[in-house]
Amino acid sequence: MSANTLRGLAAKKGLLVGSAFSYDAFRKDPLYGEVLAREFNCLVAENEMKLDVLQRVREQFDFGPAEAMMAFARQHDMKVRAVPLVWHDALPEWARDKTFPRQEALDILREHIFTVMRHFRGRVFAWDVLNEGLSDKGPGLREEGPWYHSIGPAYVERVYHWAHEADPQALLFYNDYGMDGMSEKADRCYQWVKALLARGVPIHGIGLQYHVQVDKHPTPTEVTQNIRRFNDLGLTVHITELDVWLPKNAAEADFRLQAAVYRGVFEAALAAPKCPAIVLWGFTDRYSWVPGISNGTYDRALIFDRDYRPKPAYEAIASVLR
Ligand code: G3I
Repeated sequence: MSANTLRGLAAKKGLLVGSAFSYDAFRKDPLYGEVLAREFNCLVAENEMKLDVLQRVREQFDFGPAEAMMAFARQHDMKVRAVPLVWHDALPEWARDKTFPRQEALDILREHIFTVMRHFRGRVFAWDVLNEGLSDKGPGLREEGPWYHSIGPAYVERVYHWAHEADPQALLFYNDYGMDGMSEKADRCYQWVKALLARGVPIHGIGLQYHVQVDKHPTPTEVTQNIRRFNDLGLTVHITELDVWLPKNAAEADFRLQAAVYRGVFEAALAAPKCPAIVLWGFTDRYSWVPGISNGTYDRALIFDRDYRPKPAYEAIASVLR
């Protein structure tokens, strides 16, 4: 491992620098795996550990794509964190737009959690047990998806207790977007998790997704403040899906701004008491969800360009880690 790569520099700081892993890109593009292994020491499956892939057919678990990533991680001595065990999205046909009888929904979730966590036990150090469970605007939980509709709010505590039983060594996270800084949603998440912890719910960490635009993002100071208050609850914090969106016709100055945002995120994390992992939602602009989800208005959100050339953002991160 070269000392001058991101993973070389991060190792000296005891920091995990990770990336989402796309099975499709890995299979068709040899450079993808080469740069991933050279620069990162942690992987997250972008889609291969979601319910719509693991149980495309109900009760027929397909670990194939995820195991390709696990083999790659083992070969290159990379840690693996996993997302999401429970989510209102990325649902297979048999669960999409469904409301199950309550006990059946509980059985589905319990079986999924035990089967998947037991399968990866000892190879995945952290799980986002629940992803995006909080409402975006109003108080309380997001009222969407088969789990909330079939079980009600009680599904949250059940899934964390099952996850802890399935793998007592794994770190269990709550992961969400729009709560990277001192936002209203972050305030609600803070109060909600504090109450869950008071009821003995086994949550060990918070995942801040950190999908931001180059001109719309929290300041590093408020990010550190946000991380610190969760740390004060005894929780660790991971940045789990970092990308910094550029407008389609970005000018050179925008790339320098993007670099400053990436620098700010790493500085904020390193300034906080406990934020030992920063994961990017991909690393090359060649493979990114951003153009699709933004109908092409945003793009080039990552730190390597489409030809795997490091962008100013890469240098900015490296300079923080040196
Ligand atoms: O693999 C199938 C392919 O066989 C099929 O031909 C194609 C056309 O339907 O779909 C492919 O699956 C797509 C998959 O990405 C792989 O490309 C799914 O339709 C598509 O919905 C899926 O999108 C993913 C999305 O989550 C929903 O699961 C994005 O890649 C992924 O970046 C995105 O990631 C989420 C995090 O999990 C949670 N936080 C937000 C983040 C962005 O939405």
